[in-house]
Amino acid sequence: MFVGIDDISFYASDFYLSLATLAQHNGKDPNKYLQGLGQHQMGVLPCDEDIVTMAANAAYPLVANKGTDKIRTLLFATESGVDQSKAAGLYVHRLLNLHQNMRIIELKQACYSATAALQMACALVEKNPQHEVLVIASDVARYGLNTPGEATQGCGAVAMRITAQPRLLSMDAACGCYSEEIMDFWRPNYMDTALVDGKFSAQAYLKALKYSWNDYQQTGGRPFASLARFCYHLPFGKMGEKAHRKLALINKFSLTEEEISDTLLSSLLYNRYIGNSYAASLYICLLSLLENDESDLSGKPVGLFSYGSGCVGEFFSMEVQPGYQAFSRKQQHFDMLEKRTEIDYQRYTELFNLQWSTCGKEMILPKQTKGRYRLGAIRNHQRIYEPVSEIKTTSKVNMNTQTDNCY
Ligand code: COA
Repeated sequence: MFVGIDDISFYASDFYLSLATLAQHNGKDPNKYLQGLGQHQMGVLPCDEDIVTMAANAAYPLVANKGTDKIRTLLFATESGVDQSKAAGLYVHRLLNLHQNMRIIELKQACYSATAALQMACALVEKNPQHEVLVIASDVARYGLNTPGEATQGCGAVAMRITAQPRLLSMDAACGCYSEEIMDFWRPNYMDTALVDGKFSAQAYLKALKYSWNDYQQTGGRPFASLARFCYHLPFGKMGEKAHRKLALINKFSLTEEEISDTLLSSLLYNRYIGNSYAASLYICLLSLLENDESDLSGKPVGLFSYGSGCVGEFFSMEVQPGYQAFSRKQQHFDMLEKRTEIDYQRYTELFNLQWSTCGKEMILPKQTKGRYRLGAIRNHQRIYEPVSEIKTTSKVNMNTQTDNCY
């Protein structure tokens, strides 16, 4: 019996900032961001979007398409949690009207957690092939204004339906892991931006790739030359190219720069316009590959490398199923990206510095998103989510509720 990804969809926040605009304000050559990092735009959250609304928006097409009855587990991967106790998936459960008889849990290990969720989901489906698992990864990458990491911010969510006899990709048994306790990137509970040693994190990523690959080979993984395509965790596009160059060298292949970028081009596309989406990034990369590669990938194996700072790496592979093209949402994803609103630098900084209510005082959020679900208010320390179709009067209220008056 095969298990794997039967359906997949992603959601990009409604606002974005051009990295050329950011470069202008930071006094940088735009090519540092466009060519040096391989990024063109970064997703910015409107005030009424967060990981929950992005997750519900990403998953909506999957449940609208095949219903919710068979989904009995929801695994929500994120490092941008909105609550220390309650799993963000519970809000999604209500918004999407999911089955009452199901388990829901949130997973965290930096950008890696969605891969752990995928592996657990496959094991659950193998145990009971009648049931399906909804895996959602949703994250917001925040490093701080005028820091080296600023140009590698972004956000996004991806949802995957994991089933037996999947229509898109089946999971190979082999996988290789590597873990080591290091401080390359972390975010203490009292901070809303990450702390990062950027150069060290890139080195740690490549080290984890090497050892995960070696472990993948030892567990019966496919040889490098037999993998038709590769998907890498993408903190920024150029990192994927660095990783592929490294993996080729480990396997004694000398690839030209052109060969490397040609091999990865289709998988880098979506991330280039939304930026880093942490746990979601690898799977948005995979979706970009499936929807934009010009070759027929039916029956072809894809190698995937997942990395989460701190650090855990995993190399694994999946096989593309014949006829996968019939289930593509390429047009919807392109439309969504095209309909986003470009914001200027001032609006970006206003949203970045938005003061959230931390004292229980009511904060009603104006409608900004064009998405299907939104954060309507924070009231008595509770986040109030709503389908956009149910909005009544919120748009007349000011979002600039300051926390200063709370105490
Ligand atoms: N034109 C073209 N390329 C340019 C350029 C220009 N005008 N100016 C600089 N570059 C290139 C640099 O040569 C470099 O490429 P290289 O890495 O291939 O040598 C790249 O652009 C980035 O420049 P650099 O000076 O190294 O950037 P930085 O030190 O300001 O920040 C990161 C880069 C990635 C370290 C930083 O964005 C960061 O900390 N990001 C968050 C952490 C992260 O993403 N980690 C990755 C692993 S998870």
